[in-house]
Amino acid sequence: MIDRLLPSPVTAATDTQLLNWYTHPVTADPHVSFNFVSSLDGAATLNGRSGGLGNAADRRIMVLLRRTADILLLGAGTVRTEGYSGDLIGADGVQWRQDNGKNDRPSLAVVSGSLRIDPDLPFFTSTPQRPMVITTAEASRVRRRSLEKVADVITCGQRRLDVDLLVRELKRRGHSRIHSEGGPHLFGTFQQAGRVDELCLSVSPVLAGGSGTRIAVSSQENSDPRRMHLQHVLRCGDMLFLRYLAHHGSGTTNSAHAKESAQDKGDELHGAQAPE
Ligand SMILES: NC(=O)c1ccc[n+]([C@@H]2O[C@H](COP(=O)([O-])OP(=O)(O)OC[C@H]3O[C@@H](n4cnc5c(N)ncnc54)[C@H](OP(=O)(O)O)[C@@H]3O)[C@@H](O)[C@H]2O)c1
Repeated sequence: MIDRLLPSPVTAATDTQLLNWYTHPVTADPHVSFNFVSSLDGAATLNGRSGGLGNAADRRIMVLLRRTADILLLGAGTVRTEGYSGDLIGADGVQWRQDNGKNDRPSLAVVSGSLRIDPDLPFFTSTPQRPMVITTAEASRVRRRSLEKVADVITCGQRRLDVDLLVRELKRRGHSRIHSEGGPHLFGTFQQAGRVDELCLSVSPVLAGGSGTRIAVSSQENSDPRRMHLQHVLRCGDMLFLRYLAHHGSGTTNSAHAKESAQDKGDELHGAQAPE
């Protein structure tokens, strides 16, 4: 059972309510969201994977978030570690998407600079949609040819991933809701490019210790940290689910955010958390 604590309390949220709370309106510029789970002490993994930090409620929200996406974007490290396979949204998700005028499933894409991804992974062989592989022009041609047998390989950047180019390319392909389940290097890359519009963060009631990575890793310190607005707080037992939207520019929010906030008259959080 998932309850909403803020902005106004709701007990035992239905899937429809959750979808409403998490859905972002379509905007001219694609909306880029990330979903992560973190331990209380900031670890993104337990024994090398994220699964041990989650619970059934976390998985429920994760699958609902996929349902609303036009494309699910993953980093190669996450695909190699987490074992993505099969149908990622379930029959209910397919039905919901059909009822809402969407393709049966979100597109699927993995970002890899090295192209060291096994084409025999279930990610390529057992998912219903043919995935995309996003890489750079300098990636190995041999590996590229091998992956082209199982995926559409596209180039976004010469030596490094060009995030703006990628977002434009995805927009050109009709993707206005780009949703990512990470991992940390991909999230760090999007942060550095200033292209994170939303973070859905599950806070797991665990002290993980160890040397597990944080949810974001990037090569440079961020001298201009992005301010985020808290949109809601949900709870299942001791686990919290936080949704933050980016603050775009000084004193303003992006128009979609402003519109969404205006629609929610009971949104006391927005007023309380607005930037000075
Ligand atoms: N807590 C959570 O919610 C969560 C979510 C996801 C993953 N994880 C965990 O995170 C760990 C994996 O971490 P990770 O940082 O390696 O994951 P990642 O971000 O999914 O993958 C990193 C890889 O993605 C490619 N990549 C990312 N940014 C790139 C860029 N700017 N240019 C070119 N390639 C880029 C590279 O692939 P190549 O090496 O092929 O070049 C890079 O090595 C796993 O243990 C996983 O379980 C946790």
